[in-house]
Amino acid sequence: MRMAVLLSGTGRTLDNLHDRIADGTMQGSIEVVVANVVDALGLKKAKKYGYPVHYASTDDEINSILQDYDIELVLLAGFLKLYHPPEHLKHNVLNIHPALIPSFCGDGFYGIHVHRIVKKKGVKVSGCTVHFANEKYDEGPIVVQKSVPVYDEDSPDDIAERVFGAECEAYPEAINLVHDKGIESYWK
Ligand code: GAR
Repeated sequence: MRMAVLLSGTGRTLDNLHDRIADGTMQGSIEVVVANVVDALGLKKAKKYGYPVHYASTDDEINSILQDYDIELVLLAGFLKLYHPPEHLKHNVLNIHPALIPSFCGDGFYGIHVHRIVKKKGVKVSGCTVHFANEKYDEGPIVVQKSVPVYDEDSPDDIAERVFGAECEAYPEAINLVHDKGIESYWK
């Protein structure tokens, strides 16, 4: 599968996906990386890895870039805006969210904010979710979820680190599943 990565931040998820392709444990190829933040560290990393990189501030700009690369699957990798794909890719966008959807998700729930609220609520289990994106935040068919324990003495940063460890397993696993089962099987 020809994949595009969209990101806004540090590109830690990109690092993981790049490593998994390099060590042969994940299907697909990254054809282009697009950031909606001009100085995102993830863009610099992508350039270092040798991927074509672009900055684009609107969905229209992103979508016209994707057209040039004949993209089949769009991977949101810490992309912190609601993304509207072109019609032919409306079922082909995967997102990773750092909580167990439908908990701790939706507008305003991203990154460390999620783990702060998880800590405040005192839940004992959190985790991550890889799902197909639709026109709302953190909705759409779920492909993989992984849970992690939350201990009383954890700080939000501790929870974030443990969840990110789970993310590094969940995203490649989900991409491999989608590759094997086909995208449309998740939308039936
Ligand atoms: C990841 O933890 C991902 O789950 C989260 O951003 C992090 C990656 O960004 N995404 C969301 O919160 C989306 N709702 P980074 O590479 O900038 O750290």
